[in-house]
Amino acid sequence: MNPLSATRAATKASVLIAALCTASLAWSQQNTPLKVGFMLPYSGTYAALGDMIEKGFRMHVEEQGGKLGGRSLQYVKLDDESDPSKATDNINKLIKRDRVDVIVGSVHSGVAMAMSRVAKESGTLLIVPNAGSDAVTGVNCARNIFRTSFSNWQSGYSSGVIAGQKGYKRAMTITWNYAGGNEIIKGFVEAFEKSGGQISRNLTLPFPNVEFQALLTEIAAQKPDVVFSFFAGGGAVKFVKDYDAAGLRKTIPLIGAGFLTDGTLEAQGESAQGLVTALHYGDKLNTPRNNAFRAKFSQTYKNDPDVYAVQGYDAAQLLAAGMSAVQGDTGKRDAMFNAMRAARIDSPRGAFTMSAQHNPIQDFYAREVKGLENVVTGVAVKALADPGRGCRM
Ligand code: PHB
Repeated sequence: MNPLSATRAATKASVLIAALCTASLAWSQQNTPLKVGFMLPYSGTYAALGDMIEKGFRMHVEEQGGKLGGRSLQYVKLDDESDPSKATDNINKLIKRDRVDVIVGSVHSGVAMAMSRVAKESGTLLIVPNAGSDAVTGVNCARNIFRTSFSNWQSGYSSGVIAGQKGYKRAMTITWNYAGGNEIIKGFVEAFEKSGGQISRNLTLPFPNVEFQALLTEIAAQKPDVVFSFFAGGGAVKFVKDYDAAGLRKTIPLIGAGFLTDGTLEAQGESAQGLVTALHYGDKLNTPRNNAFRAKFSQTYKNDPDVYAVQGYDAAQLLAAGMSAVQGDTGKRDAMFNAMRAARIDSPRGAFTMSAQHNPIQDFYAREVKGLENVVTGVAVKALADPGRGCRM
């Protein structure tokens, strides 16, 4: 063989070997389960929320026959305790020790903020199934970070629109003093002031404290037109009960970001009746998609779903969109993330698409508690998009 033919033969052989390697890598990936890390609160005031997110996620995967993009799934669970001071170590454990492919988490905004910083740096795919931290799809936004829930701004802003529409002029606010609470209040104030309203006092207590008495006494003394509040999980149950027990429910209207009455109504009972909230979901959304979802969830888990179950379910739907676009080959990062960015998620809340910063563009409903349900009474804001402030991708 002359030197030229020898070189050509060698080149052909190396091209063939490279092709075989890629094919065998893809083949071996197909046969390796996709490792999903749930970084969620499994203890503390948000424990029930973490549980519902995981249940919703698993339900969608089961509906797909247990596989996404042809690959089965393996789960790793980590209790983040809603503790931001442990969040960086916790997410690094999932990435470095457990070598997960995807992280689904979390609920608490302070935890999610730390997670998004690490995910942005490491490039690990992160899907946020609840925490509204504005930074996640704002200053910390990245190609590999997505959210299937809401931003705190969206949640507060839509509540402020409702308070304005009801004609209230002087409001007090009350929440936990951390990113979740403070950002939701900020969104509320933005919309409420636009409608001509004014805030007389912002009351806070440290997360996750539930000693509300002194603050309720102050509300009673000030007599605002309306009180706006963000609490969730166990804290929301206690707040709504205490507000009622203090005799305030019938004298000073209480409006909440919808978390105040979601997944909590059985425990709140009579004390929650008539409360008005804004949220991107409602129990009685009478669509075939929501009705089928609710029936299946109740049958599977012997428990009614709530907004957190929906957000977990949609996190799996979003991952499924990415996985099917690359047929399970997570090495094709660009194609996978592009498909997730472009996905139209057929959610029980109503279909939604992603903003350029990877946050749902979605309707926010006005709801009222009747019995054990958050009944939708109208749309507070249609197709509300988070402004994505500070995001550079
Ligand atoms: C948050 O911290 O972002 C958060 C937590 C619980 C909720 C909503 C938002 O229900």
